[in-house]
Amino acid sequence: MSQNSKLTKTWYYKNAFDGLPKEDDFEMKVTDLPTIADGEFLCENLYLSVDPYMRYFASHMTPGQIMVGTGVSRVIESKNEKYPVGTLLTASCGWTTHFVPKEIDMQHPMFKVVPVDLQEPSLALGVLGLTGLTAYHGLFDICAPKSGETVFVNTAAGAVGSIVGQLAKLKGCHVVGCTSSDDKVAYLKELGFDGAFNYNTENMKEKLKELCPKGIDCFFDNVGGSQFDIALSEMNRHGRVALCGSISLYNEKEMSQVKGPYVHLFAIHNELKIQGFMVFTLYKDRFVEAFKEMHGYLTEGKISARDHVVEGFENMPKALIGLFHSVNVGKVVVKC
Ligand SMILES: NC(=O)c1ccc[n+]([C@@H]2O[C@H](COP(=O)([O-])OP(=O)(O)OC[C@H]3O[C@@H](n4cnc5c(N)ncnc54)[C@H](OP(=O)(O)O)[C@@H]3O)[C@@H](O)[C@H]2O)c1
Repeated sequence: MSQNSKLTKTWYYKNAFDGLPKEDDFEMKVTDLPTIADGEFLCENLYLSVDPYMRYFASHMTPGQIMVGTGVSRVIESKNEKYPVGTLLTASCGWTTHFVPKEIDMQHPMFKVVPVDLQEPSLALGVLGLTGLTAYHGLFDICAPKSGETVFVNTAAGAVGSIVGQLAKLKGCHVVGCTSSDDKVAYLKELGFDGAFNYNTENMKEKLKELCPKGIDCFFDNVGGSQFDIALSEMNRHGRVALCGSISLYNEKEMSQVKGPYVHLFAIHNELKIQGFMVFTLYKDRFVEAFKEMHGYLTEGKISARDHVVEGFENMPKALIGLFHSVNVGKVVVKC
């Protein structure tokens, strides 16, 4: 976006979602650029993150609110010495092109200055942002895999899943992932997964038995629903499960109608540890440590990250809907 652009564009949540969001559930409004007072600074978003949680979160929002989200932005005007023009930062700014952070926004865990030596600013939203931190903490703190153990992750070619698999390989694990297409399976092989399969064309239970011959020790679940049930049934005694997401259920209209097998007896008998987590809250005090470690892995070439870049702020709704049509490999970002 040009620094001379004189307008702010913002997307609002217009209609309560009814199942899968539609483009006309959102409304974009154009206003003048905000002006800044002493102590304030004006940020222009370079990239906005597009995340499955936005769908889920919106069901707790009131129509008329700005869509929730995080961006990586540059300070383009400043009356605050701490944040001079040119500063790169991430902030929980919502779906907007420009914003002036308030004190409360600066308290948010996602508000941080980004090192300027990043190859691409969008990395601060993906592998070095919420995505990478989710993979890092969910895998290392909850699954705690040991060398030689088997780790299984679903949506393995997605933003979080692709990082989980690579981190588990760094720990010396046998890593298996599943995804929705043969092209994505090929990507997982490129990343070094020991086993990968297409859950649309293969029988998941049979493939898990074949690719995880010693059973699953660590299960990083991004999907929930039937994938959770099947993978859980292949777990070893004392296995660990990180409940990260349940994208298969986010568009359900009536959660109370969703019935699943009841896993208690299996989980109790096998003494499984099953833990849900919200990376924002549970690990917010450890982001600096995790960022440093992830930055090291990335710069040393130990892990790689791919972005799925959607061009144009106008395409934010389309990009969000695309997540639920499995269009992406890696992290979805919109280039503003
Ligand atoms: N707990 C936390 O703090 C936290 C933080 C970040 C993300 N998350 C969660 O982690 C999960 C992954 O997030 P992400 O940002 O990495 O997104 P992502 O995996 O890059 O993108 C979405 C992917 O989900 C899969 N998908 C879409 N609809 C599906 C369905 N109905 N059933 C099964 N799979 C479906 C598709 O992958 P395939 O083509 O492989 O099916 C799609 O490409 C999400 O559930 C998200 O909510 C949790």
